[in-house]
Amino acid sequence: MSYHIEEMISEEAVEARVNGLAAQINADYAGRELHMVIILKGSVFFATELAKRVTVPVTMDFMTVTSYGDGMVSAGEITVKKELDEDITGKEVLIIEDIVDSGRTLYYLKRLLLARDPASLKIVTLLDKPERRTVEIQADYYGFEIPDRFVVGYGLDYAQRHRNLPYVGVIIQDEEGDK
Ligand code: IMP
Ligand code: MG
Repeated sequence: MSYHIEEMISEEAVEARVNGLAAQINADYAGRELHMVIILKGSVFFATELAKRVTVPVTMDFMTVTSYGDGMVSAGEITVKKELDEDITGKEVLIIEDIVDSGRTLYYLKRLLLARDPASLKIVTLLDKPERRTVEIQADYYGFEIPDRFVVGYGLDYAQRHRNLPYVGVIIQDEEGDK
């Protein structure tokens, strides 16, 4: 497929929104500590930008999960490809996600982590595609609601590419004749 990328959310707009999210989180977690659970790989860019602006004490851990799509035996279940290094029992956990699409990943992840008895568990996502939701799940904080388009950049990939774009862009398929 031949395609190009059009900017959807500028680097400046993302930065301004990350500032706003950090301010909200700083207020909500005042006097507490925050344990960030960062979901690899897409959330890394967002997580570091957010973490730099959080002023309450922060610890960080990383997890890799994969979700099976429709049509597979365990549809909707997620598998943990890289486990957290540390126990989250008693911690104020904030899951950092890049995007909530069907919601399946977060739905199962939330259930999995809640079973480990954290003191609290909240979710922050940079992007949210509410139109695509197939399971009931909502982030506690989100950066931007976006329409049902495939986006890349700021950590998000298309076939592992474009994660390093400093803005959020949308993939536009080129017309056959343009090739
Ligand atoms: P969900 O379980 O359907 O909510 O899937 C969430 C995951 O799908 C995200 O963590 C992304 O890895 C991926 N994803 C969903 N939409 C997009 C997109 O527009 N661009 C890149 N990755 C996406
Ligand atoms: Mg992801």
